[in-house]
Amino acid sequence: EDSASANLTEVSHTVSLDERAAANGHKGGILWLTGLSGAGKSTLAMALERALFDRGWQTFVLDGDNVRNGLNAGLGFSPDDRAENIRRVAETAKLFADAGVVVIASLISPLRADRARARVIGGDRFHEIHVGADLSVCEERDPKGLYKKARAGEIAQFTGVSAPYETPESPELLIDTGALDRSEALAQLLDYVDETLGKS
Ligand code: PPS
Repeated sequence: EDSASANLTEVSHTVSLDERAAANGHKGGILWLTGLSGAGKSTLAMALERALFDRGWQTFVLDGDNVRNGLNAGLGFSPDDRAENIRRVAETAKLFADAGVVVIASLISPLRADRARARVIGGDRFHEIHVGADLSVCEERDPKGLYKKARAGEIAQFTGVSAPYETPESPELLIDTGALDRSEALAQLLDYVDETLGKS
């Protein structure tokens, strides 16, 4: 055992997960949205947060772009930094899920190994959702002009251009944002959330 955790003993909560779920009318969980830049992760994440909130659900988005300003300030886009970014968000998401919240984590999370580690952290409450659009579609949209910059060599290790994106092999859900419009994509996601986290 490493010395940092040698003298720690876990303290038990008196409020159980089931009690929280009963009070909230839904289960907590981690909806892990992975996909290329420009695939529509953030838009979908925020639309889902709004829809669930409007129904009275406990929900919160952890977005890569946002957490990189605070919790993950100082982390860049090297493989090691992305791994640490993803690990911290997964641990944070787990805490939120323990508190009964439906966490919507929106990160490129390009590598299978990093997503697999996030899944281990989240346990059976982790749901991998591939927000899938072809690179050509994302690059065509280029909402932030980042692909253009990456092609011009102005951004190093840009996912899809000069850094890999490993397509999920067996996500719990694939949302094809290349083919669906925003409301259709949201409806698919809401159906999934109802099935898995709603009152049974
Ligand atoms: S990761 O790979 O999961 O750690 O990335 P994430 O935390 O989701 O951050 C992705 C956003 O950072 C911006 N950005 C980059 N993305 C990919 N590669 C490089 N090199 C890069 N540099 C900056 C970009 O705005 C991403 O946001 P989205 O919303 O995905 O477009």
